[in-house]
Amino acid sequence: MGDPYGLGRVQEPAGAMPQPAWRIDNTMQCRDDEVLIDVDTLNIDAASFVQIKDEVGATEQAVARRMKGIVRDRGKHHNPVTGSGGMLIGKVRAVGAESPFADDLKKGDRIATLVSLSLTPLTIDDIEHVDLSNGQVKIKGQAILFASGIYVKMPNDLPDRVTLAVCDVCGAPAQTARLITPGQTVAVLGAGGKSGTMVLAQARRNLGKTGRLIALEYAEKSANGVRELHYADDVIVCDATKPAATLAAWEAVTGGILADVTINCVSVSGTELASILITRDRGLVYFFSMATSFTTAALGAEGVGKDVDMMIGNGYARGHAGLALDLIRSEPALMELFAHKVGV
Ligand SMILES: NC(=O)c1ccc[n+]([C@@H]2O[C@H](COP(=O)([O-])OP(=O)(O)OC[C@H]3O[C@@H](n4cnc5c(N)ncnc54)[C@H](OP(=O)(O)O)[C@@H]3O)[C@@H](O)[C@H]2O)c1
Repeated sequence: MGDPYGLGRVQEPAGAMPQPAWRIDNTMQCRDDEVLIDVDTLNIDAASFVQIKDEVGATEQAVARRMKGIVRDRGKHHNPVTGSGGMLIGKVRAVGAESPFADDLKKGDRIATLVSLSLTPLTIDDIEHVDLSNGQVKIKGQAILFASGIYVKMPNDLPDRVTLAVCDVCGAPAQTARLITPGQTVAVLGAGGKSGTMVLAQARRNLGKTGRLIALEYAEKSANGVRELHYADDVIVCDATKPAATLAAWEAVTGGILADVTINCVSVSGTELASILITRDRGLVYFFSMATSFTTAALGAEGVGKDVDMMIGNGYARGHAGLALDLIRSEPALMELFAHKVGV
């Protein structure tokens, strides 16, 4: 295998890997160990989508223009502010003879890639529709999957838009399945979002009837959605960008008991300290949010004398897509909520 990580496509800076690179070569010629995909849908990462709408205005035209600009500048949909990408659905157009997927994939297969758009060579010929409510974007374009990439074949029993939304955040429930043990007090920030609701469902499974699962949500409407799922023991409505107020709201509900594990699934920046404050000493904060600042989390924890472990939300965990898709298949209320979120 010559170049499984796509190093040969890095243009700037020389020697970088495709994800952190500023610019990659998005020429749509399938190299020997690559897969070429005709792309029809992008799912822009939530933190990136919020940032783009904040920057250019929440209109279809403005967002589409910005998205095309990012891809033109970088050869990939790699938001220069949040550093994050998203994922895609498309049809396989060609499979290189040396691709490790040559036995599994054939022309015409519909797949979702499970590596970030922030490292995926991409072209956008046309943007047909931008769903401003959830970051799903219908396009005509092409993309390349490297030999080290991962993908899932689109299942027949779920709407594409649901599969795309679930797969985008599938690392979160998979990590939750590993982290939560019975009896723990668990906090989930951004609990009403896509990753947040999946994390709640998986955490409830791990806890069973034990422990305490506490959802923190920003808008009353989203909080109601969380209540209707019946996974959480308590739902706190608060603005997680206000750490002291979040801690006060938390303590009012728990009587001062702090979380053993806190999972941050918020789509906006500035919520590191709220997560850290509601977590007990030697507890764990899992930052799934792409809006997390390493510096703020590290220096913020130090600054308030909090000896907590902090985990970066690796988007990949072995078997993550299968776990997340099975989770939603077996949770009708969650399925309904997702279908509503993505408009099917
Ligand atoms: N680590 C990875 O590999 C990976 C992969 C995909 C996504 N992500 C990241 O995971 C995060 C969540 O993604 P998602 O798709 O689940 O997003 P989402 O569906 O948009 O949900 C975001 C949640 O954050 C809440 N929120 C927004 N502002 C808040 C505030 N000030 N205080 C408290 N909560 C607030 C929202 O509440 P309201 O609905 O009330 O506004 C919503 O519940 C994003 O940062 C995304 O970039 C990470």
